[in-house]
Amino acid sequence: MTDATAVTRLADYRAPDWLISQVALTVTINDGETEIAATLELAQNSADLQPLVLDGEGLETLSVAIDGVILDADAYVVTATTLTVLTPPAGHFTLQTRVRIKPESNTQLEGLYKSGDMYCTQCEAEGFRRITWFLDRPDVLAIWTVRIDAPASMPTLLSNGNRVGDRTTADGRRQVDWSDPHPKPAYLFALVAGDLVLRNDRFTTASGREVDLHVYTRQADADKVDFAIASIKQAMAWDERRFGREYDLDVFQVVAVGDFNMGAMENKGLNIFNTSCVLATPDVATDDAYERVEAIIGHEYFHNWSGNRVTCRDWFQLSLKEGFTVYRDAEFTADLRSRPVKRIQDVDFLRTHQFAEDAGPTSHPVRPAEYEEISNFYTVTIYEKGAEVVRMLETLIGRDQFRAGSDLYFERFDGQAVTCDDFVDCMQQASGRDLTQFRRWYSQNGTPHINVSVAADGDGSRITFRQQLRDGQAPFHMPMPCSLYAADGALLEQGLSWELDQVEQSFRVNQPSDDLLVSVNQGFAAPVRIHYALDASQRDVLARHDLDGFNRWDAGRQIVIEAWAAYVGNADAGLIDPIEHLFDAALAQFEQDPALTAEIIRLPDDSQILDELGADVDPVRVRQAGDAIRAELGRRMGELIQPILLALEPVKPYQPGGDQAAKRSLWCLLAQLLAHAADDSIADALTRRFVGADNLTDRMNCMTVAGVMARHNPSMFQSMLTIFHADWQHEPLLLDQWFQQQARFGDFDAISALLEHADFSLGNPNRARSVLGVFTRANPEAFHAPGGYELLAGCVASLDVSNPQIGARLVIPLTRYKNWSTSQRERAIHVLKGLDKVCQSADCREVIGKALK
Ligand code: ARG
Ligand code: ZN
Repeated sequence: MTDATAVTRLADYRAPDWLISQVALTVTINDGETEIAATLELAQNSADLQPLVLDGEGLETLSVAIDGVILDADAYVVTATTLTVLTPPAGHFTLQTRVRIKPESNTQLEGLYKSGDMYCTQCEAEGFRRITWFLDRPDVLAIWTVRIDAPASMPTLLSNGNRVGDRTTADGRRQVDWSDPHPKPAYLFALVAGDLVLRNDRFTTASGREVDLHVYTRQADADKVDFAIASIKQAMAWDERRFGREYDLDVFQVVAVGDFNMGAMENKGLNIFNTSCVLATPDVATDDAYERVEAIIGHEYFHNWSGNRVTCRDWFQLSLKEGFTVYRDAEFTADLRSRPVKRIQDVDFLRTHQFAEDAGPTSHPVRPAEYEEISNFYTVTIYEKGAEVVRMLETLIGRDQFRAGSDLYFERFDGQAVTCDDFVDCMQQASGRDLTQFRRWYSQNGTPHINVSVAADGDGSRITFRQQLRDGQAPFHMPMPCSLYAADGALLEQGLSWELDQVEQSFRVNQPSDDLLVSVNQGFAAPVRIHYALDASQRDVLARHDLDGFNRWDAGRQIVIEAWAAYVGNADAGLIDPIEHLFDAALAQFEQDPALTAEIIRLPDDSQILDELGADVDPVRVRQAGDAIRAELGRRMGELIQPILLALEPVKPYQPGGDQAAKRSLWCLLAQLLAHAADDSIADALTRRFVGADNLTDRMNCMTVAGVMARHNPSMFQSMLTIFHADWQHEPLLLDQWFQQQARFGDFDAISALLEHADFSLGNPNRARSVLGVFTRANPEAFHAPGGYELLAGCVASLDVSNPQIGARLVIPLTRYKNWSTSQRERAIHVLKGLDKVCQSADCREVIGKALK
């Protein structure tokens, strides 16, 4: 049984009773303890004078003073999470506090903590309260100055804004002062202290401001930031061009940190990055990692406007900054790389992860109405579905009016903390369109399913759309762009910019229904599931002729999903024919567009098949059916694939991205088909490619192919693992990769052994994810094996104490049991009930509690 947990509700939002106009912090770091002296300028914000209640967690309070006078112990009350000044002066006053904290024993990686020798912070969402007493809510914006005082062993002392002072004291300590001219909430505060290497560059903004670009790493990583620096410049120039947004400080700083709960953090002027999202050289980053670094650099940089200059009123509005910023970084990648490929990959990601979340126990709207622990809401719904909602706005009002709405938003709300409604208001005003109904996308959860049917109507046809809604939900307003094709693929009518806003509505077209194929929801304009019954040959016509590149790909996707789903129930080799046909056609043109070819022959994630099949499915059978299909394709297409593999021999020197990357990924997909078919003819080429590789992508691709082959011949995979470990064990990011490959291909025993490996640690989030995240999401045979759930649960129970944020994330695959087979469901519930008894953190309790409801 879950105890009643504290729920925070959007409906209870109230403006703060007190505001803070200025903050002056002095942070004195010493080994074993850090002291924070805070001076806060407070201003009454309520009509009647209210007590001042500050947030704090794990603070040792040394003193509290008002207007320079130390308070007696009975003038304030300290609990585990609050400091209350019972009768503060009316109007304005200055509060001074001194607290002591122990960053060295902070394993949650929130607030001020240590990563290796470096001190760093993570304050979003509610980490600042672990540093000092404060009004730790995003609608309290202040001007900050920070002094960092540290031993000489830590010459690099960083905080937000511009550096305004730098000295070495008589006793040899370092003291650096920072001043941030832009008002900001506490979650954007950052501090870094250590002995770091600086790599610098410059950028001149459109209006001529000279900006220093400073990227800091530990010594060993100093040679891995060129690509990040180039990406920062691209991001700065792009935001000027595309959104009219310039950078606004003298320096833009990025720090790479090895122990980090998330990807990166947009602290004002001092972005902090997980090393995995910023370091990139051919030897430590795959092609995908390069693209990720560029996108995340963009993402955090774009937050400078969408998040920092205009921030969120409360955490229910998180998607205001995250959805908009993901939309912005997706556009950045689309402009820099291939727009069609980026769209395909984003939709595939959304269907794999967000649709599954929305169908599971933690489903929530883009603007949740309540939460127990806000850290649990940094989700694919808030981020990726939120971005799709922003994209729909752009589709509905047009690109120019969208830009006008965005300009209005930044101008009207600069320096303020606002809501999702404020954002839509600007789009509504700029376009003159009524977006009242559209706002349901923010409050209603779940993936809308849309049934599409075509019926004869006189000498034309009627196309009917029906929204299947959850109980109590009202219809969504969405764009539904369509085109019409004849049964032979001839274009009949293009650019029908239909919109849906009713449970059921239909459109009449002049084409007879027996000769009509509708290309629906072009470009995936609306984030919905379309049910439009076509057979494989009709889908094949669209897969060849649809002029909308996304829908052309998607028609092929549906062929694969339907065939795979059918194959799970009936392993009939004939079901594979349409997939073979599709792959044949794609491979015939691989030279024209290898990236698109790779997207066509990349099979969907198992979760999309599970979603298609509905209730009572064993995920292991879904995986085995997929492997059987791959094997059969490998056997049937071997002779076609062999010469293509030869044509995809690696090109040196390595370049990340572009044609080269597309060819590497295509090679890997095709070689895997042969490996599934137990075709040993590739073994020699594989060994040669692995040994001769000048980049990580090829090394990992070879290991992936060998991992597939390991089923019938484990020796090659084992020797590659041995070689890779010997060559790269000094690189933490590559050890992560080494663990990931084993978590993906190992059996239950092999994975249990990984947890005992000397280099495994639950304390490092990247390492923990490398084993547990991969094992639970990508290795169903091991995860569902006897002991698999318990293995995860043991780790979650330990993370519940040391790092609950990570524990609550890693447990999620176990909570998605609803549609598994009966025995799997029963085992999962049993293990979750056991966990529910031991977990204490709000993070884990919320996720497990919802899963057991
Ligand atoms: N705002 C950051 C980003 O999207 C994510 C930080 C989330 N941190 C957390 N502890 N939940 O770039
Ligand atoms: Zn973000």
